[in-house]
Amino acid sequence: MLAAITPRTKEVFIANPNNPTGTMVTMDALERFMNRVPDHVVTVIDEAYYEFVQEPQDTMKFVREGRNVILLRTFSKIQGLAGLRIGYGIGPENLVGVLHKTRQPFNANAIAQAGAVAGLLDDEHQNRTRQVTDEGRTYLQDEFAKLNLEYVPSHANFVLVKVGDGNVVFQKMLDQGIIIRAMAEYKLPDWVRISVGTMEQNRRCMKTLKEVLAR
Ligand SMILES: Cc1ncc(COP(=O)(O)O)c(C=O)c1O
Repeated sequence: MLAAITPRTKEVFIANPNNPTGTMVTMDALERFMNRVPDHVVTVIDEAYYEFVQEPQDTMKFVREGRNVILLRTFSKIQGLAGLRIGYGIGPENLVGVLHKTRQPFNANAIAQAGAVAGLLDDEHQNRTRQVTDEGRTYLQDEFAKLNLEYVPSHANFVLVKVGDGNVVFQKMLDQGIIIRAMAEYKLPDWVRISVGTMEQNRRCMKTLKEVLAR
């Protein structure tokens, strides 16, 4: 990514953990990048899945150091409030000031803000979601391994798995009432992304996937 930066580059986005792979860039690699990224570039670290990570990295450090960085977080994931359309960014005052000039007025409504604060304070819900996700992700990955399906070990609440023709598998799963994501638009036509659900949902998903792949 560093090598691809030119004088015309304005922003670099790093999704960490990344969607749809669920992979993570280590703090070491981030530091190496941040130490070498030119001053005219803003680095945006999208941390939508931050709360699912076992040992979250202290990326706030880059903000404290006054780097040209913005961390993005959302209430759509671990808090489960995607319908409220609310998230937040953390960055140095000058960058936040620029964003304030261009954001739409009243872009976060009062109900969304009340929900977001309640979600942040609701440790029980967040812990339970993390626990259900950890258990479900381990189950899905173990099942993929048993079926000899290649998968990418994930740090998020989904797993990328190689199933053959992703569009076909997507459609056949949908016919059985299970929605997964085909990955052709990410140039990964042989892969699908499966979100972790409750254990009951995960078992049903795997049972259906086995049937679909056996056909
Ligand atoms: C990396 C990443 N960032 C952001 C989002 C979306 O966040 P929001 O619902 O706050 O727009 C997603 C969810 O699909 C995501 O995968």
